Amino acid sequence: MRNKVIAGNWKMNKNIPETAELISGIKAGLKDVPANVEVIICPPFTSLETASTLIKGTVIKLGAQNMYFEESGAFTAEISADMLKSAGSEYVILGHSERRVIFKESNELINKKIQKALASDLKPIFCVGESLEERESDITKKVIETQVTEGLAGVPAEGIANIIIAYEPVWAIGTGKTASPAQAEEVHAFIRGLVAKLYSQAVADKLIIQYGGSVKPDNAKELLGQADIDGALVGGACLKADQFLGIIKPA
Ligand code: PGA
Repeated sequence: MRNKVIAGNWKMNKNIPETAELISGIKAGLKDVPANVEVIICPPFTSLETASTLIKGTVIKLGAQNMYFEESGAFTAEISADMLKSAGSEYVILGHSERRVIFKESNELINKKIQKALASDLKPIFCVGESLEERESDITKKVIETQVTEGLAGVPAEGIANIIIAYEPVWAIGTGKTASPAQAEEVHAFIRGLVAKLYSQAVADKLIIQYGGSVKPDNAKELLGQADIDGALVGGACLKADQFLGIIKPA
């Protein structure tokens, strides 16, 4: 049995006082979380240290939303793996579609980031997903295969144990359109099969694959009930404590 992992991607939202308020709301409602359910919050860089202090002693874990692959140096405005770790992060979201589309991140760049994160003891939440046009052209699996294969190039089997893959169809992000549980499950099973081919069935069986894209309290239960859906990467609905808690509950 794989754990269920619910992560909140706060994106470019919440200043420091708002961070404290949201975390206090989540903490107040988080009771009796079973050991097989993991909760991760990914606030913006500026809130990481505050968040890290506020979640001490709770089950909540901390993640960042991006990083650069170089160790340090003249990379103005970039953030290193070491900086994220020293601010208390255990996870880092890499390859989010907003990074791919708006900031033109390639599979090659994302691969370098994944390798650096793993070498630095940070666990990547590696996002993949097709656009609406790609889905309508019936090339979803081809797109996912390329993203997964190129993103994981050179990552050894031991590394996969520390990676979460998040399947996020781009057309479902922030649009209110969710993939149906069957549509999501089909791609999740495909990703697991692909990882089994690239590594082994044992490695694939342990891999956590989250679904992301307009996950809300009212659709979480059905999505999380699918055989290969092991959690959710939540955007919009993680910005309100009651909604985030409403997604953790069915997990
Ligand atoms: P959404 O975002 O839940 O607002 O659709 C998900 C994500 O981008 O991770």
